[in-house]
Amino acid sequence: MSEANKPASLAQLVARRKAGHSLEADLYTRPDIFETDMDLIFGRHWIYVGVEPDVPEPGDVFVVDIGKTSVLIVRDDDMQIRAFHNVCRHRGARLVDGPHEQVGNLVCRYHAWTYSLEGDLVFADHMGEDFDKSCRGLKPVHLRSVAGLLFICLAEEAPADIEDMAAAMTPYLVKHDIPNTKIAHSVDLIEHGNWKVTMENNRECYHCGANHPELTIPLFAYGFGFSPKTLDEDELEQAKRYEDLVKDAHNRWEASGLPSREIEHLADRVTGFRTERLPIDQSGQSQTMDTKVACKKLLGNITDPALGGLSFWTQPNSWHHFMSDHIVTFSVIPVSPTETMLRTRWLVHKDAVEGIDYDKTTLTEVWIATNKQDAHLVEVTQSGLVSPAYEPGPYSPYTEGLVEKFCQWYMGRLSAHLETVA
Ligand code: FES
Ligand SMILES: [Fe+2]
Repeated sequence: MSEANKPASLAQLVARRKAGHSLEADLYTRPDIFETDMDLIFGRHWIYVGVEPDVPEPGDVFVVDIGKTSVLIVRDDDMQIRAFHNVCRHRGARLVDGPHEQVGNLVCRYHAWTYSLEGDLVFADHMGEDFDKSCRGLKPVHLRSVAGLLFICLAEEAPADIEDMAAAMTPYLVKHDIPNTKIAHSVDLIEHGNWKVTMENNRECYHCGANHPELTIPLFAYGFGFSPKTLDEDELEQAKRYEDLVKDAHNRWEASGLPSREIEHLADRVTGFRTERLPIDQSGQSQTMDTKVACKKLLGNITDPALGGLSFWTQPNSWHHFMSDHIVTFSVIPVSPTETMLRTRWLVHKDAVEGIDYDKTTLTEVWIATNKQDAHLVEVTQSGLVSPAYEPGPYSPYTEGLVEKFCQWYMGRLSAHLETVA
């Protein structure tokens, strides 16, 4: 192969990334880059995978597969949640099929090696007197619950700055009392695009006006940024009103003990994140078709239904919306270079009863429609990216700043790795 036809190295792709522009096609399409992403990004960072209500009772197990790695998340008899590699220490059989199971102990189907919920090997027949069970426990995986949101890290040493994120975010999240919710609905959607296309699509609402007729009912058009030069006087007035509304809402919510102001660390941390509580249009209550709460039983001790929506975004793979009555939470797991699983959960108070306190369609219809529209946008973007005519295009400085932050974070993580191997 001539030099000119050789695929660019990772170092070359990192070095020639044009700031403020989408990435080169190779980064969205090449199988070797996908393997790099699975190793450097999904293998070494905190990955959002689920919620404490995935394992509400002792013996509940939840399985999540990230590339070749299968992880089981289990709640023990003392209510502690732990994560282990889902691989038997005898001859490697997958222990739990999942996604959700209830067990007394973790018993391998092959030769019945049996592990406690704490991961210790407690039974292994016919292994002889010298066999030491104590060094054959399940291999642990780092797990951190941030106010009920479960993050795992597959690396031997997990980034320590998750503690900073947890400290900053816990006061925002505890009001919504995730541990005392239940999963009212869950959908796994395969999007036909690279995981970075899915993430970039999430990080802007430039496309919302033209593509999301349902989501733009509760969300304010001016909440997503705009170019002031293109607005007429009337629109500028509306944008100013929105800005005042955000300021007033933040002051009011913060005065009542509800943290709401923006915290933004999307590109300057290993465990990048951002949060802000934003007003909701019309009734101010929830991300539903009529903007009213979908569940009569509010979360935690909340009494005011009009708390807007607390949004929380994490690098590399999640976003979440917390309202007074329900939570919608999204986890992105790459499947192949051109397929990505988007797992969406709708959480309500654990005592809320379907048909009495909430109706599932009312609860889920905005985001089911929005996800479908986004999946289509991801697919058409991926299919355009493979064309030889594609070249990185410029992001809008007004509406795509967070897409750029995602790319900065991603390139920064690749670059940090290259420095360690240089
Ligand atoms: S592989 Fe699990 S007991 Fe043998
Ligand atoms: Fe969208």
